[in-house]
Amino acid sequence: MADVSEASAHGGGLKRTLGPWSLVALGIGAIIGAGIFVRTAAAIAERAGPSVTLAFVVAGIGCAFAGLCYAEFASMIPVAGSAFTYSYATMGELVAWIIGWDLVLEYAVGAATVAIAWSEYFNKVLEYFGVQVPYQWCHSPFEKAMGSGVAGIMNLPALAILLVLSLLLVRGTQESAMVNAVIVVVKLAIVVMVIVIGWGFMNPANHTPYIPAPTTYTTPEGVVHPYGGIMGILGAAGVVFFAFIGFDAVSTAAQETKNPARDMPFGILGSLVVCTILYVLFSHVLSGVATVEDFRTFGKEASVTFAIQKYMTGYSWLGKLVTVAILAGFSSVILVMLLGQSRVFFSMSEAGLVPKIFADVHPKFHTPWKSNLLFFVFTGIFGAFIPGDIVGEMTSIGTLFAFILVCAGAWIIRVRQPELPRGFKVPALPVVSILGIGVCGAMIYGLGWTNWLRLAVWLVIGLVFYFTYGIHHSKLNPANAKK
Ligand code: ALA
Repeated sequence: MADVSEASAHGGGLKRTLGPWSLVALGIGAIIGAGIFVRTAAAIAERAGPSVTLAFVVAGIGCAFAGLCYAEFASMIPVAGSAFTYSYATMGELVAWIIGWDLVLEYAVGAATVAIAWSEYFNKVLEYFGVQVPYQWCHSPFEKAMGSGVAGIMNLPALAILLVLSLLLVRGTQESAMVNAVIVVVKLAIVVMVIVIGWGFMNPANHTPYIPAPTTYTTPEGVVHPYGGIMGILGAAGVVFFAFIGFDAVSTAAQETKNPARDMPFGILGSLVVCTILYVLFSHVLSGVATVEDFRTFGKEASVTFAIQKYMTGYSWLGKLVTVAILAGFSSVILVMLLGQSRVFFSMSEAGLVPKIFADVHPKFHTPWKSNLLFFVFTGIFGAFIPGDIVGEMTSIGTLFAFILVCAGAWIIRVRQPELPRGFKVPALPVVSILGIGVCGAMIYGLGWTNWLRLAVWLVIGLVFYFTYGIHHSKLNPANAKK
């Protein structure tokens, strides 16, 4: 198991202990989370109906291409890190800046998305004890309760879990091999149980037609999406792409892998294949058990537990088990994302691109505690005040964009610096890069203009920051050498 402490990212001298199956486990541990247990229902309701299964296939294929390019990057540079680190060392500061800035959407906004999902299932657990967080205190101001019309104020449980996990990171944590293994087994077990038990409760009417005729759906926030047909599937692929995020964690372990040339593609593709198969089966069952209308109304939140409670008579124990297990599974995903975020900004800070505060290490805990706390504020604002649909889609589009740059980058570096030693080489390189760019680009297209606009605004803010701050503090800029 990879040591996920900060020290391992910067201390060098990592031990090569990981074999191919540990990499697959590492991937699955980081992958299965809110994407499958929350975003799937949103994709069914708002985009694709039962054809969400095809969306998972599209998203899985896009990830496989991007993942291979990622792995080549990761095996090439003699440092552990993220896409930022790789691109900084190979493609220059501006591209690296764009990727690093974009990764905030993947990690920090992603963590907020999972925290919102955590809040939904947390409320279900409370329900078992006969209590509830009042609607207005577990929803953003942009949401309204079905029926009563009560508006949200802020999502307190999402804020609370982000605070607890940020404090845990401040204290320093090493997710041990044991904990990771238990969480992987628990997540796999609930996914498999829902598939096996739910299979018998599917209603064929819910799967007819499998690909709904193209039309539109207006979300409660007033956004109009294409629903059904090819565009529905592409949009759904962009939404459920979230469920695959985290597999890049496998590529970041390149320095700890015994035989990267053989084990990296196995780890990345292996975890993707396992997850894609499970996701397709799971979403087939979920869309077969409950109706699209359910997921648009009362089953919009904590959708898996809802479907079990409403339709799978005699299995209320499964509903309870799933709810509790999901809470634990989500917490580990949030932790990995928050950790990833502080690592990326640590590297960016060392490069002089963001203020030094992000690389300030706690004297006792040796963690970038100020960064952890600042990102608590940032993720907390998203988690508390923005609806899950919006942050989830922002995470997807940001990560897709980063993957496109990584696909292009792997190709560019191969042409420009073919002599650099690489632990792993993407087979059939321009083809894989081009297909990766194409499939990820198609998902971005499917996500629609509201998301394009959000991504554009985010990137513009990033560029303004770079040209007003980063470039003047960059360690690479000779003009700053004397400062
Ligand atoms: N893939 C992770 C999840 O679905 C981010 O929660």
